[in-house]
Amino acid sequence: MNLLRHIAISLLLLLLHSMHATAQNKVTIPIETAQNALVLQTDQDKHLSIIYFGKKLAQAAEYDLVSTQNRQRDGNAGIYNSAYTPAGSWSISEPALQVTHADGNKSTDLIYVNHQTTREGDNVAVTSIQLKDPVYATEVTLFYKTYARENVVEQWSVIKSTEKGEITLNKYASANLYFPGKDFYLTHYNGTWAREMNPEEEQLTAGIRVLDSKLGTRANLFQPPSFQLSFDKPATETEGKVLLGTLAWSGNFRMDFEVDSYHNLRLIAGINNYASEYPLASGKDFKTPSFIYTFSENGKGEASRNLHNWARKYRILDGEGSRLTLLNNWEATYFDFNEEKLSGLFKDGKKLGVDLFLLDDGWFANKYPRNDDRAGLGDWQENIKKLPHGIGYLVKEAKNAGIKFGIWVEPEMVNPKSELYEKHPDWVIRQPQRPEHYMRNQLPLDLSNPEVQNFVFGILDKLFTGNSDIAYIKWDCNAITFNAHSAYLEKSKQKQSQLYVDYVKGLYKVLEKLRAKYPKVPMMLCSGGGGRVDYEALKYFTEFWPSDNTDPLERVFMQWEYSYFFPALAQSAHVTDWGKQPLKFRTDVAMMGKLGYDIVVSHLNEKDLQFARQSVATYNAIKEVVWHGDLYRLVDPKKNDFASLLFATKNRDRAIVFSYLVSNRNGAGSDIAVRLQGLDAGKKYKVKELNLYPDSKSPVKEDQVYSGDFLMTAGFNPVVNARRGSVILEVLEVK
Ligand code: DGJ
Repeated sequence: MNLLRHIAISLLLLLLHSMHATAQNKVTIPIETAQNALVLQTDQDKHLSIIYFGKKLAQAAEYDLVSTQNRQRDGNAGIYNSAYTPAGSWSISEPALQVTHADGNKSTDLIYVNHQTTREGDNVAVTSIQLKDPVYATEVTLFYKTYARENVVEQWSVIKSTEKGEITLNKYASANLYFPGKDFYLTHYNGTWAREMNPEEEQLTAGIRVLDSKLGTRANLFQPPSFQLSFDKPATETEGKVLLGTLAWSGNFRMDFEVDSYHNLRLIAGINNYASEYPLASGKDFKTPSFIYTFSENGKGEASRNLHNWARKYRILDGEGSRLTLLNNWEATYFDFNEEKLSGLFKDGKKLGVDLFLLDDGWFANKYPRNDDRAGLGDWQENIKKLPHGIGYLVKEAKNAGIKFGIWVEPEMVNPKSELYEKHPDWVIRQPQRPEHYMRNQLPLDLSNPEVQNFVFGILDKLFTGNSDIAYIKWDCNAITFNAHSAYLEKSKQKQSQLYVDYVKGLYKVLEKLRAKYPKVPMMLCSGGGGRVDYEALKYFTEFWPSDNTDPLERVFMQWEYSYFFPALAQSAHVTDWGKQPLKFRTDVAMMGKLGYDIVVSHLNEKDLQFARQSVATYNAIKEVVWHGDLYRLVDPKKNDFASLLFATKNRDRAIVFSYLVSNRNGAGSDIAVRLQGLDAGKKYKVKELNLYPDSKSPVKEDQVYSGDFLMTAGFNPVVNARRGSVILEVLEVK
């Protein structure tokens, strides 16, 4: 009996010892921000897995203990939570990486080799983890760039091969994440032209839910690459665990959300591999786009402020700078203008008090004049009938009127009815053996072709070199990619399956070159509205056009949804004649973004004109808070009769509160006070109503002093109702 006990104890000790040794051989890699952690760990076979995601632990050493608490052990353990799931070997899960090797073999495995972390200043660090296939000369480096204070992680991977021949990347994700949990709620967006950003929230169930685009050029027409993911229960603005994620890629994307058999969630995000097997020559590497995310345990408000802070400081061109207010002529004239008309509009812009006049579509092409959207796209010479003295003359005229000048281009596209198409049919994306298929009577040019890249760069370069005072560009892109086929790839003996990817790479090459030469000129990212809005493009653009739909009622909802991902200074919002709302409502809605106008100023009656001028002045007085302040969404228009949102300065001495009625039901309005956020409970404030329409009176008592505590706990009623459809309040510290 004693002997048996002795043997049993010895065996137990041996087992414990070997377990300890294994644990010691494990490499644990915490990727931490100020609040959160993603923790990776190797197993006994040196496979790298995700063992933790969520709130950061106080003691990093304890991450090692996380997996000891995990009871989900069966044949699938270590498969679902792979940090970069390879295909064709031990893992049977949806892969992050699928490769066809030079010899035709389709199996891949990835073994941990080493990792390192380099710091870039006190806030940013990049951890890179090298993984290698033990059989084939293929390796992957996973990159995790952390922005500590903003709690943002930017993640991408680099795939490299030194195999003897060319390999093919069949799937090549940017990020592979794993979230242990019970219930997951995904908010994704659908839309189409003039109906962007319609949210839908669903509980994820077993299996794979895919968000994707296969549209090529105007990739986000039906769906943007941005989503919200709540853990356990749907998060609110102020409560709950939520991840905001977005892929920085201006082309086809794919995100797989897989609830696995443990009911945990796998996420694989990257370029859509649809029709995009990508060849990789020996010695070359492929860098995937970045997947960017932030996570908060305190609801969507904090998460989106994280993203805004990050985007302004690290991503959007001139994100911490200022923006130009403008008057655009698109809806005022459409294609019907001439020099005289435009000169009148310059003066109107000056009368309004905006910084810039933006000349939209229709200024170019002669053989096939651009008088509607059926002809001329691609022929970037001034139309001599409309503009006999050229752009230079207009720029000077604008200057004389005391306003800056900006111009619209759509350089990636061509109408078949154009000289460009006649001269260079091989520059056009089209299937040579099939009938052409158009969106808005046009086709994309083939940006995988370096000649086309030069042509596109040349359009902008010529505009700037000829007219150095051009102060703004609106870059449009109105067609999706049908009949994806490249004559250039054919001729240069490359693969057609490179087209979707090489198009986007070509676009970035052009933008890179443009920014090297013209680093500062503000540029609006437009794609027939919000058909292309992502954080890679926004490296080169200062703002984006959320939608052609400028009905302010719709914009309240749309701008609200965009605001989860993008800060207000990047959202262009114009006052137009869309919708049935009065000018005051239309203006107040545009003022919560980057204000512009697209109206016929001369059609305004005296009071409206007075109000419009006053609004530009008011905007100038509050724009710093809107552009660089912290955003708090207070009352959700999807669930209430009105919307309310607040921008507060970082030192909490001033806030601007926007409220908009969105229901016309009898008695709809703000019956009870709105609890403000983002103030200092200990500070004293006065509240004043801004931007009143001429001759109207405000019920707000300007002399009353309130504590921040009162405003945030008892709240303040903006008195929104049918007679006061929109209300702007300024909350100012009393010192
Ligand atoms: C689509 C854009 O979204 C509009 O603002 C306008 O620029 C037109 N294109 C011009 O064709």
